[in-house]
Amino acid sequence: MNARLDWSSRAAGPLHGSVRIPGDKSISHRALMLAAIAEGNSHIRGFLEGEDTRATAAVLAQLGVRIDTLSAGERIVHGVGLHGLHGSPQPLDCGNAGTGMRLLAGLLAGQAFDSVLVGDASLSQRPMRRVTDPLTQMGARVDTRDGMPPLRIHGGSALRGIHYELPVASAQVKSALLLAGLYASGTTEVVEPHPTRDYTERMLAAFGWPIVFEAGRARVDGGHHLRATDIDVPADFSSAAFFLVAASIVPGSLLRLPATGLNPRRTGLLQALRLMGADITVERQREAGGEPVGDLVVRHAPLHGIELPVELVSDMIDEFPVLFVAAAAATGRTVIRGAAELRVKESDRIATMAAGLRTLGVAIEETPDGVIIDGGTIGAGTVESLTDHRIAMSFAVAGLLATGPVRINDCRHVATSFPGFLDLANGCGFALQDAG
Ligand code: S3P
Repeated sequence: MNARLDWSSRAAGPLHGSVRIPGDKSISHRALMLAAIAEGNSHIRGFLEGEDTRATAAVLAQLGVRIDTLSAGERIVHGVGLHGLHGSPQPLDCGNAGTGMRLLAGLLAGQAFDSVLVGDASLSQRPMRRVTDPLTQMGARVDTRDGMPPLRIHGGSALRGIHYELPVASAQVKSALLLAGLYASGTTEVVEPHPTRDYTERMLAAFGWPIVFEAGRARVDGGHHLRATDIDVPADFSSAAFFLVAASIVPGSLLRLPATGLNPRRTGLLQALRLMGADITVERQREAGGEPVGDLVVRHAPLHGIELPVELVSDMIDEFPVLFVAAAAATGRTVIRGAAELRVKESDRIATMAAGLRTLGVAIEETPDGVIIDGGTIGAGTVESLTDHRIAMSFAVAGLLATGPVRINDCRHVATSFPGFLDLANGCGFALQDAG
């Protein structure tokens, strides 16, 4: 990982222009994994050139999969078939990526060989029992370090399908079990407390694996084949989110975000911002690569506080840091509940955002599963990202309205999900600099 990198974000604007948001992280991880174990060559366009997704590509290459880079964002994956992966004597490094590690755990649980999955300092602190417990019920053997990485996966286990009711809504856990289910005898059925993103389900169908799914429930049988297919990855809504909030809060702004993924399990923030008074429209709504996409057009609008409907939480699980910034810029009170999962993301996102916003003079109260924010003025100061990419970008947005510079410490992980953020942001009117 590159050296430490601090940013300074200052008041600027209005924001204008068309912003080309990079490819979707969740879809890019899944496209690589399914293409790797499919039969034939799959062509992926719009692949996210982020550190997280490149780490997954490197792991698959280590397992014997040839992946050609044709140009930035374009890969040909030479599938090796369901049983064509080879074990690696070296640990498999997932970097910062929880999605990479949890999904790979499911994929590797049914292989004939042993694997060790490792991650960086942040990933090494994240809970893995949510994946390893149900995998163990399926017959896998996985050792953890007190429930955290590294994960030592013992090969040669005969997996059997299970019916599993997830205690916490998680697309990563659901996906890990479905991937293990490809290698299991019988049926693997996963039921979620709230529906989460269904990319694994949609993509399994696109690769020709029989799957039955509806919101909150998915079922696969083992023993079929995946056929190579081509995948167009839409722009990542979670990356677009920073610009949706930025243009909403800076007077006079107008931004267009073309071809953004609009899967309804991802767009909770759109609804939340509209409830707060945002002016965001969708133009040229269409389907691309089996996913709904559209051009988002966002204009400045005065925002007001809301009580966030709890049913939106899993549809915007990655967008809370920037929603907190929108709430800080809004008039009145915003109350967020039911979001305890934020405490086990790349950082404890409730605590990290609360500490930073408080430093900037925002009235924010932490609760076990959310926050209460009274909007008003955002001040200057130095905040810690705790190497969490989404925290760093959220404070870059906060700086746009701040009364003085906002210094954001340790922004190097922004490249895990959003390579080129600084240039794209400055290109449409941010005043964001390397703070040296
Ligand atoms: C993801 C699922 C979510 C999300 C993460 C990506 C995925 O995690 O926060 O950024 O691609 O499946 P959880 O499954 O832990 O909620």
